[in-house]
Amino acid sequence: MSVVRSVVTGVGGYLPDEVVTNSDLAKFVDTSDEWIVERTGIRTRHRAAPDQAVSDLAAPAAERALRAAGRTAADVDLIIVATTTPDLTFPAVATIVQRKIGAPVGIAFDVQAVCSGFVYALSVADGFVARGRSRCCLVIGAETMTRLMDWEDRGTCVLFGDGAGAVVLEPGEGAGNTEDRGLLGFALRADGGKQDLLYVDGGVSTDGRIGHLRMQGNQVFRHAVVNISEAVEAAAADAGVPVASVDWFVPHQANQRILDGVAKRLGIDPAKVISTVAEHANTSAASIPLAMDQGIRDGRIKPGQLLLLEAMGGGLTWGACVVRL
Ligand code: UT7
Repeated sequence: MSVVRSVVTGVGGYLPDEVVTNSDLAKFVDTSDEWIVERTGIRTRHRAAPDQAVSDLAAPAAERALRAAGRTAADVDLIIVATTTPDLTFPAVATIVQRKIGAPVGIAFDVQAVCSGFVYALSVADGFVARGRSRCCLVIGAETMTRLMDWEDRGTCVLFGDGAGAVVLEPGEGAGNTEDRGLLGFALRADGGKQDLLYVDGGVSTDGRIGHLRMQGNQVFRHAVVNISEAVEAAAADAGVPVASVDWFVPHQANQRILDGVAKRLGIDPAKVISTVAEHANTSAASIPLAMDQGIRDGRIKPGQLLLLEAMGGGLTWGACVVRL
């Protein structure tokens, strides 16, 4: 049976220039390089310059993904940005990116599912591309998480960084089996009852402030390994592939201990896990496409390989996606 799949034809990433080390943070917050490395695996994170908005990270990531796909902005008919840190309350970052890269009139909007945003956005994009409603779609995860930090809260301010990653999705003919290139399976989850574990304490329709990120880290940690493992297994079942057949796990990068815990629970060889948490820290919706970009650029991830993407974040939201490159 012939089916149309949403095929990833290009991947790109962009990190702002400034690199902030753990020791830099220890100069003004009561922490240490030793604690951060031991509890999280994080060594550095990138920080956007004061005059860089999230669209300034998203646009170059999108242009790099288009170049990798052999496309130009003129081809783009759909832009979806997963972000929790938009330039402005409105319009959507996607429309600002559309203007900045010079894409023609098309469809553009944002998706807000915090750290799970990129997986959610891929699923939304699949609904357009695989149904013939988009010929060239940009799905972008972009964040300036450092703007949400309370720099006096050592439990959160050491964990996050800024960056953007993007993929190009195009329709491709498949045979309807697991050898097809493209997005093959999803599992998306949300549990609004757990809002208090991870949220931002300000907003447009409440107190009118941007607010700061608040997290009960150890509670989120407790849910993460169990929730992510269940979603990974459900996405693999949706795709019709055993978890063991996956070539690369490309997880959301929150904490090396979560990556290790999920790998252990699912019996995944740690050598198959792409980890960027040491250099990027947690870039929320940007972390998966940034890790994909890194794995492709350093030659580990190759065309035709099977990837399993997974994430969990505020909401709580979580999810996973199986994709053959
Ligand atoms: O992307 C969204 C999803 N987010 C996550 O997945 C994050 C999940 N959570 C985590 O990654 C971890 O829970 C943290 C890294 C946030 C914290 O690690 P933990 O091992 O769960 O530590 P804890 O919160 O239980 O705190 C242990 C101790 C506390 O001291 P006491 O009360 O035992 O004296 C904290 O005050 O570590 C202290 N602490 C710190 N010490 C030095 C907390 N943050 C710091 C810090 N430096 N930055």
